[in-house]
Amino acid sequence: MPQATFHFPRGFLWGTATAAHQVEGNNTNNQWWQWEQEGHTNGRSGLACDWWGGRWREDFDRAVEGGQNAHRFSVEWSRIQPAPDTWDEDALEKYRLMLRGLRERGMTAMVTLHHFTDPLWLKEKGSWETEAVVPLFERFVRKTVEALKEYCTLWCTINEPNVYALSGYGNGAFPPKVNNIKLAVQVEANMVRAHAAAYRAIHEIQPEARVGYALHFRPMVAKNKWSPLDALMRSIRYEGINLAFPSAISTGVLRSPVGRHRIPEAKGTQDYLGINYYSRDTISFHLFNHKELFTYSGFPDDADFSDTKFIANIPEGFYETLKWAVRAYPNTPIIVTENGVEDADDHMRPRYLAQHIHQMWRAVNFNWPVKGYFHWSLVDNFEWERGWTQRFGLWELDPETQKRTKRPSADLYAAICKENGLSSEMVQKYCPEVFEKIFPS
Ligand code: BGC
Repeated sequence: MPQATFHFPRGFLWGTATAAHQVEGNNTNNQWWQWEQEGHTNGRSGLACDWWGGRWREDFDRAVEGGQNAHRFSVEWSRIQPAPDTWDEDALEKYRLMLRGLRERGMTAMVTLHHFTDPLWLKEKGSWETEAVVPLFERFVRKTVEALKEYCTLWCTINEPNVYALSGYGNGAFPPKVNNIKLAVQVEANMVRAHAAAYRAIHEIQPEARVGYALHFRPMVAKNKWSPLDALMRSIRYEGINLAFPSAISTGVLRSPVGRHRIPEAKGTQDYLGINYYSRDTISFHLFNHKELFTYSGFPDDADFSDTKFIANIPEGFYETLKWAVRAYPNTPIIVTENGVEDADDHMRPRYLAQHIHQMWRAVNFNWPVKGYFHWSLVDNFEWERGWTQRFGLWELDPETQKRTKRPSADLYAAICKENGLSSEMVQKYCPEVFEKIFPS
């Protein structure tokens, strides 16, 4: 049986990623909380992981004991700025405390400034639908970065602008559940503008900052190779979902099948590219899916599916994603800002993890500038419209009792982080079923 270890470069960041609304609990002043109270989600966020109550401490301990040297979390706009003219200094102090907590544990912090949630007052002003959001976001970013700059130099302006825009204004999974693709593109254009404004503001405040955003990237294949219609649908979807935002950052123009927006100030506003990868889609033409421009996205029937079939384990798609990133931006560092799978009993996560780390190692081995990996997520947390029906944590959470229970994957990930690599022994121990795929004899 082959014995080997796939090593990563010195200084590689190994961490987990979280987001404020999903872990803090009692985020009552944003549009998601309201959406939950209106009954649109599978359960409510409630106390979530009770980080606002202080349980971040024990979870950061879990992370550092598990060999992680970095953590990505987000700050909640509606806490920091509960009303347009009110700043909550105590909330900022709490985030400073968390950041200090990471520093004391020797961990690098990455802070996300917007992760899907908007203050209710912003919703009243039209959310991201009008350009008025741009100076508002910039003002919030300036205040927050000023307050936190002592402890963080790695910033993620906006998490998955493509998902926010297309789920809120396309397929209807997110609030405000409007189906209007033109508006979706307008929202995304305003996110590009706000990202660019935030990029400049952060650099003004902190010249050494590294600023980027997190792109949800879905590699895609046409369902029927012989079908020109499937191929066309694939390219519409691929360009709309994957390319619109990043090409606006490269060219200053946001292109879409339903209109163009010139945003010259966005050109070159990234110091790294953040990639969130979960799975690869199989695309076909669907006559009745006008909501999504007649495209339909699925997975191969025989895929290795997660609990609710939300994710298919397709590690090669991760490699394709990194390949796309390095070709699109040859000199830009890449950080994997999210990757993970929902798997309550942990029967699949070990192989998902090992296979994805293996694909990332292939990329690193070609000298592609992948600098870090943040697994989604540390502890089970509130999964948006899916609520508590999906469990992404390395640690299991009982939201009622707040009890955490370690899953085997937490030990596998700890072994990877501590070794700064993936070894044949680890694969043999935690997911022997894919040994031959990762270490062929
Ligand atoms: C989001 C996370 C979410 C994860 C798993 C990503 O698209 O950024 O907030 O929890 O997917 O669903």
